[in-house]
This record gives sequence, structure tokens and C-alpha cells, in this order.
Amino acid sequence: MSEHFSVTATTGRTVRILVAESPARLGWAAAELLLQEWKAREGRAFRVGLPTGNTPRLFYSVLIGMGLEREIDFHDISTWNLDEYLDLPAWHPGSYRTYMEKHLFGFVNLPRENIHFLNGTTRDWKVTCNRYERLIRESGGIDLQVLGIGVNGHIAFNEPGTPGESRTRLVRLSERTVQENARLFPDPKEAPEFALTMGIQTILEAKKIVLLASGGGKANAVYESLCEPPDPRVPASFLQNHPGELIYILDRAAAAELPVPDE
Ligand code: F6R
Repeated sequence: MSEHFSVTATTGRTVRILVAESPARLGWAAAELLLQEWKAREGRAFRVGLPTGNTPRLFYSVLIGMGLEREIDFHDISTWNLDEYLDLPAWHPGSYRTYMEKHLFGFVNLPRENIHFLNGTTRDWKVTCNRYERLIRESGGIDLQVLGIGVNGHIAFNEPGTPGESRTRLVRLSERTVQENARLFPDPKEAPEFALTMGIQTILEAKKIVLLASGGGKANAVYESLCEPPDPRVPASFLQNHPGELIYILDRAAAAELPVPDE
């Protein structure tokens, strides 16, 4: 069971909200949306921007299931991950590349050459980031960007204080984000402080954006991202400036602070 409604953001734009009954349902809803977008691609390649983290795990599991059932074929999909830690080699257990191998890439027929990642071990981060931007543009742009949101309102690794015009670059992570991510490292002291990330403007150039959030810890960030004017204090609030379709898929706890329209 899920519930749909719309929220009018402070910029006047409408945002479609889908509230799923559970995190598992949230994963299903997100995978179903990707499937529908893929089916509507009309013979073109389909480019999807992907996040890591706890929230999208079930989304990826459902996509793997859809691949096994041959509902979706990944051969004409290309993926563009949002971010990667600096100085972690791709094979490191804490790298986002390893996360993606473990949760999606290792189990679907996605051609290896269609996987795009920021290289965290680059010797020149500016060249790497500019190249990523150029590749996205040259590929035709991202069709569907999937996002998570941090408890402090970050999207990708764009932390509070990030201007809306930011592009792919090197960033220092907030203390809170380093602490939250430390749980995913065998030795929490190993959690990196720096990362490469797509910028807010880069994200806003995707044709369609879907943001996933689960748990009460995200409720305030979700509320502020739509019901407070766009401001660097809450990087996700810049999503209100996205010219295309913007959809939020939430569980009940994450949706708790949103204004629900009268019946
Ligand atoms: C990771 C990323 C981050 C996460 C966010 C939420 O690639 O882009 O912005 O989406 O930190 O993470 P979880 O889902 O672990 O709460």
C-alpha cells in the first residue's frame, strides 16, 4: 500500500510525494519507477545517476530481482554514481565502488564500460571532476537521478553551506557525515574526511529527479528541503529549482513533517 499526494514547494513548484508503508515498499516503488522510465526510453540509451548509503539497498535488491526475472535489461543502461571518497582505491571495502559492486553491479548484466564513477585515487581532482562533467554532457545528460538525503539536508556530498551553482569537485565532509559514515568501515577511524562529488547544479541538470528517504531522522531535512526557501543551509532545498519532474519516495516516518493535504 502506498499513498500519493503533492506538496507545493516555496518556489511554487509541485513535488509528487509517494509515501510507502515500509522501507521494503519504498525500495519497490523506486525500482518500479526506474523500470517505467527505462521502458519509456524509446530505443535510446538510458542514463541513471545513483546514490549509495542505507536507503537505496532494497531498491537495488529489487532491481537485481527484476533483472533475474528479465523484466529489465541493463545492457542499454549507463550508471553515474554521485560521489566517491578521496584516496580510497576502488577495491577498498569502504569505497562506494565496492558498495555498488556488492549491492548492484555484481548481479546484473550492466556492461562494465557503462559504469561511471569518480576516481577517488586521482592525482588531479580538478581534471577528474571536469572530465566527469564533460562525459555526462557528452552522453546526453542523466535521464533519472536517484538521490538520498542526509540528516543535515545534504545531497550527494554537498554539505550545508554549498551554493546552488556548485559543480563536481573535491569537498571536505562535515564532522556529522564522517561520523555517520564511520559505521560502514571496519575501523571507524579510517572513515575519510574528503570526497569527490557531483555538485548541486550538476544534479539539477538531470531530466528527472527522485529522492528517497526513510526513518524519522530524515523528517526534518525532508520538510526543510521543500517547505523552506532554497538556501545553502539545506543543500536539498535547491531541488525546488529543478525545472523537470521531482518526486519524493518516503516512508511514513520520513514524511511525518510534510503538510498533508486535506481529504
Ligand atoms: C551517497 C550519497 C549521500 C547519501 C545520504 C543518505 O552516495 O549521495 O548523500 O544519499 O548520506 O545516506 P543514507 O541512505 O545512508 O541515510
